[in-house]
Amino acid sequence: MSQWNELKAQCLQCQKCPLHTTRHQVVFGVGRENADIMFIGEGPGEQEDLQGEPFVGAAGKLLDDMLSIIDVNRTNCYIANIVKCRPPMNRDPKDEEQDACIAYLQKQIELVNPSIIVCLGRIAAKRILDPDYRITKDHGKWLCRNGVWMTAIYHPSALLRDPNKRPETFDDLLSIRQKLRDVHAKL
Ligand code: URA
Repeated sequence: MSQWNELKAQCLQCQKCPLHTTRHQVVFGVGRENADIMFIGEGPGEQEDLQGEPFVGAAGKLLDDMLSIIDVNRTNCYIANIVKCRPPMNRDPKDEEQDACIAYLQKQIELVNPSIIVCLGRIAAKRILDPDYRITKDHGKWLCRNGVWMTAIYHPSALLRDPNKRPETFDDLLSIRQKLRDVHAKL
């Protein structure tokens, strides 16, 4: 079995944390398995839990629009979440749920081997970039770790709740578009 198939099969049967008792579907991830750019959200919401795919609800529609600004779509990027099962009532995933699930994401990152990682929102930024990450202050800043460029932007749900954050996010997206062009120029 390929490493991807093996990982997905393990993840689909996972019972490592209590979220497995309330999920309808495991939301493994979607997109190109060797994409240059990877997006990481926090965890499935209601629609994602029902459909088994990340970012298919209202926030997902906005994410698709955000991707189009940077000339990306669901077939040429990879999209995954910190936790693969829906936290009830869309609460934040608990630390112990994230701890139980993070190895799946680490393996996904290893297999995709992207040049750029974009964290969507505070939860992913804290987990992937820095436990002290402040999304209001730090969004759009870049860091390079082991040759991978990493940043975080506001979560699309936050942009739906507060449209005032959209202009800053537009600037962040232009910066990501430029980074993607720089990376492609070097390939
Ligand atoms: N929010 C997330 O963080 N991830 C999803 O897949 C959907 C909504």
